[in-house]
Amino acid sequence: MNKADLRNAMKIQTVNDAVRLAQHRLPRPVFDYIDGGAGAEVSMKDNRAAFEAVRFLPRFGTTVGIERREISTQLFGEDLSMPVLVGPVGFTRSMHPDGDLGGRRAAAKAGTVFCHSSMSGHPIDEVAHGAEGGPYWFQLYFLGGRQGAEQLVDRAQRAGATALVVTLDTPVPGNRERDLQYSSALPIRINRHTMTKMAPYVVGHPRWLFNTFRDHFTLNLANAVGLTRDGKPISEDESLLHWIVEPPTWDDVKWIREQWRGTLIVKGLVTGEDARRARELGADGVIVSNHGGRQLDQVPHSLAALADVVDAVGGTTTIMVDGGIRRGADAAAALCLGADAVLLGRSWVYGLSAAGEAGVTRVLDIVKTDLIRTMQLLGARTLGELRDGFVQS
Ligand SMILES: Cc1cc2nc3c(=O)[nH]c(=O)nc-3n(C[C@H](O)[C@H](O)[C@H](O)COP(=O)(O)O)c2cc1C
Repeated sequence: MNKADLRNAMKIQTVNDAVRLAQHRLPRPVFDYIDGGAGAEVSMKDNRAAFEAVRFLPRFGTTVGIERREISTQLFGEDLSMPVLVGPVGFTRSMHPDGDLGGRRAAAKAGTVFCHSSMSGHPIDEVAHGAEGGPYWFQLYFLGGRQGAEQLVDRAQRAGATALVVTLDTPVPGNRERDLQYSSALPIRINRHTMTKMAPYVVGHPRWLFNTFRDHFTLNLANAVGLTRDGKPISEDESLLHWIVEPPTWDDVKWIREQWRGTLIVKGLVTGEDARRARELGADGVIVSNHGGRQLDQVPHSLAALADVVDAVGGTTTIMVDGGIRRGADAAAALCLGADAVLLGRSWVYGLSAAGEAGVTRVLDIVKTDLIRTMQLLGARTLGELRDGFVQS
């Protein structure tokens, strides 16, 4: 951890502070890659608006002094310090050299799950073994198609991942209009050659340039390295091509269930119908998610999708949700509405971009402290009690 990161981390009191610091540090294409959504960004804005529209119904006179609320929990038999998980985000090494390794360390320190994106600048082994404590989950995209997916599942299994998260909402990347203006300067293409195209955007962001230089411009797709098809090695570009050509289907979920011994989670569902299907195929849990409004725009927002899924499969499977969570109060609202846990997406990578691992630690602490405070203000003594009508319907 360097001094500049520690100084920035101390400036983060809210996730919005992390957003401002990230915007200052990152070249515009990288910031917009994180901050933007698909199409007119309707679903992305709706996610936030829905959390802001929640009205709590506190019950006063039940809190017992200022003791810290019990928010530790068990998810799939694993002990977590809180029902707030660090969700999968791609290309984090282009945001800060700490990348997923920083996220994993911060999550482990906080006693919670780190879910590692397939689209990482750090390989499975390095991140899985990068910290002690706090479960390591792997998010599966079909890099290299079905053959590549099989190899990634095998690597995750060997590295000790306790859960595999299969994301279904990305048969192709969403139409992120903000990214279009930068064409080949997108984060995915940052390398020595595209740096020339990035140059106009990098001016004015010396800390990012210094960090990227120190990291030897290592912004590749680390998990694509070493993948093979029909026994022959494939390039990163080929692995991406097959990712698009052979996206996972429900048949693949069935097939993965047969080979994966650990917890299986399906991510990216916004309907009760799909959640039921995931459960029927043997998934242990679902992540209700519109991908932070980055995939199909104008789908239901996180809380509407959560309501539909809770209606369909509540009480019969583990339900997690993400999309728009920036405060502990947002996490509390989702838990009140039937989620077993929530995941952070942009919130943690704003922290990472602002201050590396130290920034992620700050964001996790801020969300945790606010969740505890919200429970105290609501008069809920346990996570279980949050289900008892603390939100206006
Ligand atoms: C920059 C960025 C990259 C992402 N990459 C992935 C990914 O590789 N795999 C995945 O399943 N979800 C990915 N997501 C979606 C997140 O896991 C999560 O669903 C979403 O960010 C939640 O919304 P929020 O950012 O408003 O909290 C990404 C999100 C962002 C912002």
